[in-house]
Amino acid sequence: MIKVEQISKSFNNLEILNNVSFEIKRGDFVGVMGPSGSGKSTLLYSISQMDSVSGGRILFEGRNLSEMPEVELSEFRLTKMGFVFQNAQMLKNLSIFNNIILPGLIAKKETVHIIRERASKLMKRMEIEGLEERDVREVSGGQLQRASICRAMINNPEILFLDEPTGALNSAATDQVLAILEDLNHEGMTIMTVTHEPRVAAKAKKVLYIQDGQIAACKEFLTVTDHERELDKWLMELTH
Ligand SMILES: Nc1ncnc2c1ncn2[C@@H]1O[C@H](COP(=O)(O)OP(=O)(O)OP(=O)(O)O)[C@@H](O)[C@H]1O
Ligand SMILES: [Mg+2]
Repeated sequence: MIKVEQISKSFNNLEILNNVSFEIKRGDFVGVMGPSGSGKSTLLYSISQMDSVSGGRILFEGRNLSEMPEVELSEFRLTKMGFVFQNAQMLKNLSIFNNIILPGLIAKKETVHIIRERASKLMKRMEIEGLEERDVREVSGGQLQRASICRAMINNPEILFLDEPTGALNSAATDQVLAILEDLNHEGMTIMTVTHEPRVAAKAKKVLYIQDGQIAACKEFLTVTDHERELDKWLMELTH
């Protein structure tokens, strides 16, 4: 689905990503781990082309995103990719519901009715129905993060990108978000998430370990069951 070919990225002559290559297959669940400052967020934003790369290319279903005209790229991102950030970036002057439907209204691909219906279904599924009219500041961190997932899903994306989706959540709220991600992936959604929590990465089928802007190691898990212990062991070996 996505082929990342030797991408590099530098800021002020400082190399942040260095020749990174890998592939995301449809239905994959990719976890991205690594020390703080190693380039995980930069990698996520580069693949999704929210940020340009200095070298290499990103092919999305064979199409070179680095060469796509900006207008087309924006639409591509809006309709094919969903994003969830560490601190749910929701607009404070809009209700939760209106925040969720906003990317749908901007995409203008479907009627408002269809978008609203999908938003309601998503909210129900994420167990936050009833919070439609609340202000962003009137819900818990976990509820807000689940609302962000609804928003990311509003245009039926083909891939969901998440940057530390549980970074600000307590253990129970983390479990809820994890259960949702697992469910979505079982239904076929392709997921790529940055996380520093082994508990989150243990849900992935493939984990990339980024160090100094490079993929220092990559592990694929063959079993479908939770592989937290296997992951812990791998991380221990990598960091000691
Ligand atoms: N816009 C920018 N301008 C200059 N340097 C940047 C910019 N964005 C990121 N960097 C630098 O690039 C490096 C990688 O940053 P990045 O945010 O990708 O790290 P990360 O692995 O996501 O870290 P964390 O786990 O702390 O979120 C860091 O050294 C950071 O200071
Ligand atoms: Mg980061």
